[in-house]
Amino acid sequence: MTMIDRRSVLAGSAALLAAQAAPAATAPDTLKAAAAARGRRFGSAFAWAPPGRDAGSFANPAYAALLRRDCAVLVAENQMKWQAVRPAPDRFDFAQFDAMVDWAMGNGFAMRGHTLLWAYSKWFPAWLNGADFGARPATEAARILTQHIDTVTKRYGRKIHSYDVVNEAVDPDTGTLRETSLSRAMGGTLPVLDLAFRTARAAVPHAELVYNDYMSWEDGNEKHRAGVLSLLEAFRRRGTPVDTLGVQSHIGLFQPTTDAGVLAKRLEPEWRRFLDRVTAMGYRLIITEFDVRDRGLPAAIGPRDRGVADFARAYLDIMLSYPQLGDVLAWGLSDRYSWLRGFEPRPDGAVARGCPYDLDLNPKPLRTAMLSALATGTRRAG
Ligand code: G3I
Repeated sequence: MTMIDRRSVLAGSAALLAAQAAPAATAPDTLKAAAAARGRRFGSAFAWAPPGRDAGSFANPAYAALLRRDCAVLVAENQMKWQAVRPAPDRFDFAQFDAMVDWAMGNGFAMRGHTLLWAYSKWFPAWLNGADFGARPATEAARILTQHIDTVTKRYGRKIHSYDVVNEAVDPDTGTLRETSLSRAMGGTLPVLDLAFRTARAAVPHAELVYNDYMSWEDGNEKHRAGVLSLLEAFRRRGTPVDTLGVQSHIGLFQPTTDAGVLAKRLEPEWRRFLDRVTAMGYRLIITEFDVRDRGLPAAIGPRDRGVADFARAYLDIMLSYPQLGDVLAWGLSDRYSWLRGFEPRPDGAVARGCPYDLDLNPKPLRTAMLSALATGTRRAG
């Protein structure tokens, strides 16, 4: 046996012995570790509430423990919205959002900003819906919008790495762009959205700029998906600085369903066609508000949790097969504090079970499904 052969045999044996001695890599047991294994961050929306309040807030020790366990990135559910930070045209109030950002930064979380403009008059503050933009409406409307975006983004600087610059500008029923007091003043919705993104890019050049919407994979979303694609194409034609599509992912089983997996298989091809069109335009993807509406499932917890977990797993496997997918955030970790409780109560009165933890903050099959999907998805690219 020559020297080289002997050396390589010895080296091979040593490596083999070392591998056998090393502990097997343990499977990730938190959502943030599972995501990190594929180069992503997992996170959740959270709230502000006074200490002692039973809320999905960082001041609630039990909920803060869940955030610390499973999350690497956070987003304020409501406290960065216009109603919260700008109660009047000439007044900003950052007290609650400041506290949330400080807590997040102090506890090692990344932070997303939601939202610089919810382009939907239903969610405008009353003063903005009723604004009189004076003799030069386009100029005054633009001033109000750019002042808002500049003020918010420059206050937080690099503490916030990603913004939903514009939220839900597409009417899901028609696929056309929503009109608002700003769009009427500025001669159309596209000029408003374009200005919002350009202002954000100039103010925080480090930040990921996201168009966020709830177009989804279920039947009935066809016009919404088409409208979002048209808007994304318009952004590209105009050179509007939009980096990423925020896919809210409030998915749901709305009709009586006995096999969520079969339904998911039927929905997959069309949803992939949509995502392929988005990524072909050079947009990245993030999941911004994940939860599962379970109205079509029986009230019994066993079958309901199984259906929710199966549907979620199928959906997340598709989303996580895209290397363009970055952060993945749930819209709250627990059924106890979920918007779903009030938004569309189940006819049978049962509490929706669309979050990874239940009413008592115990993990559910949904969390296990999310963990597996995050740990086995395609690695994030770039
Ligand atoms: O804080 C006030 C409280 O002082 C007052 O007593 C109470 C009753 O009027 O209202 C409280 O504010 C409510 C706020 O949630 C905080 O709980 C608002 O009325 C209520 O409209 C608001 O709902 C939020 C909704 O967006 C509208 O902003 C939901 O919590 C929030 O989950 C939901 O999140 C949206 C995303 O921003 C965009 N994508 C869809 C998603 C679900 O609708």
